[in-house]
Amino acid sequence: MVAKDLICIVLAAGKGTRLKSEIAKVLHRAGGRTLVEQVVAACQPLGSDIWVVVGHQAENVRGAVLPFKAKTVLQRPQNGTGHAMLIARGAIGPKANLAVVLPGDAPLIRTETLSALVETHRKGNASATILTAELQDPTGYGRIVRNKDGSVGAIIEEKSANENQRKIREINSSMYCFTLEKLWPCLADVRPDNAHRELYLTDAIALLNKRKERVLAVRAESAQEVLGCNTRAELAQADRALHARKAEALMDGGVTIYLPETVLIDPEVEVGSDTVIEPGVQLLGKTRIGSHCRIQSGSVLTDAAIEHHVLVRQYSVITASLLSTGAIVGPFAHLREGAELRPGARVGNFVEVKKSVLGEGVKAMHLTYLGDATIGRETNVGAGTITCNYDGVNKNPTTIGERVFVGSDSALVAPVRVGDGAYIAAGSTVTEDVPADALAIARGRQVNKEGWAAERRRQMSEAAESSGTSDKSEGRSSHTKAARKTGLSSRRKKSSRR
Ligand code: UD1
Ligand code: MG
Repeated sequence: MVAKDLICIVLAAGKGTRLKSEIAKVLHRAGGRTLVEQVVAACQPLGSDIWVVVGHQAENVRGAVLPFKAKTVLQRPQNGTGHAMLIARGAIGPKANLAVVLPGDAPLIRTETLSALVETHRKGNASATILTAELQDPTGYGRIVRNKDGSVGAIIEEKSANENQRKIREINSSMYCFTLEKLWPCLADVRPDNAHRELYLTDAIALLNKRKERVLAVRAESAQEVLGCNTRAELAQADRALHARKAEALMDGGVTIYLPETVLIDPEVEVGSDTVIEPGVQLLGKTRIGSHCRIQSGSVLTDAAIEHHVLVRQYSVITASLLSTGAIVGPFAHLREGAELRPGARVGNFVEVKKSVLGEGVKAMHLTYLGDATIGRETNVGAGTITCNYDGVNKNPTTIGERVFVGSDSALVAPVRVGDGAYIAAGSTVTEDVPADALAIARGRQVNKEGWAAERRRQMSEAAESSGTSDKSEGRSSHTKAARKTGLSSRRKKSSRR
């Protein structure tokens, strides 16, 4: 729906004292976005210009809404919601006829509800239409005072309300549709007659009535939708509701989510049908997951691109990485920025991969670090393999060919290349390129000393007997003494091995 005569105005200049925070209220996060981003995202499908009134931490709020192409206007000082609207008036110019006005701290509002608000306003030929809600506990909110004909006579703020008015459970959500040419003259008449000496937008409603203008109300389908995040408890409530909403949308699209209340999925995440998300999973940022995947408990995926039939086992952390169809990772795998697993590649437990391509069918199953590496198809990376990519100054590449066998506990000192089909003996420290189909052995040669261990034991027991300390409880000290006596000290032991 594109409406040329309509604009949205988001009031987001306030500080949010009740949060007891150094961060401006609208920059707190719920459902994976800042509050103001959630609000602006709900306005965006209306297709109209969005203006955000900024004040507290104006630069940061501006930064948050910039990606939505929202325009901002600075309100400094912040003299109330009515004052914020007067500041907005100076910026928006005379073109717009209707404005949807909403607070930056109510992140649960849905586009459908805003559309319904505008529709009621247009059809009812109103000057103002207020989105209201019926709350069990209306404490803190402005109360809706209805006229006999059902239209709205006034909004009374909690602090100015008398005992009877406080009993009213229909509250002002702070979301409105205004016909601007009717609002402006009333706003000019609003006075700061309240404890905070602020100009309240809500006071304009009684003034519209005085001028015989029609003020209507639309009740939100669920009271939850108008929840403002003025306290940490409300923030947590909004966060839970937004995450539940995202999980429900994915389930509607054919995704299985077990214990969805334990799962955190950011708004922009996409998941294909028949994928299963287990409890305690976090899917963050712009993560995209194809169909028939399984993401197991405790895994955290940020900006990950996952194709189809991928298995992410428990407690894997995946950031800005690509997993092609059929890949398997984890448990306890760490794929950092730029890890790319080609189809069927496998990464096992305690394996860290950074900025590396693992070709089709590559296996790196245990205790390995692969950084700045390119690994050809069907290569097997043995347990404990390390690419030594950093020389203290630069990051250097390791290139391993296809069908290579990298023996366990090998260190590949980059820059280095290993040709196709080569073998690297376990425990090697590879510092030079390995030709294709060669065997590289880069470790000390083994020496076996026949009977050495038996002789050592015999000498030790002899020494223990002669010093009379064969008692088991003193085993350790007698062992050391005996070793000294027989000349098998630790230093000698080492040199004898060489
Ligand atoms: C406001 C309404 C109240 C309603 C409630 C719903 C007024 C006077 N009261 O109260 O009737 O029930 O919202 O949540 O409007 N802001 C500015 N500039 C300012 C002051 C506020 O931009 O000078 C912004 C805030 O950042 C916030 C929004 O306006 O996003 C609402 O302000 P807030 O202080 O939260 O008002 P409430 O006390 O909640
Ligand atoms: Mg509020």
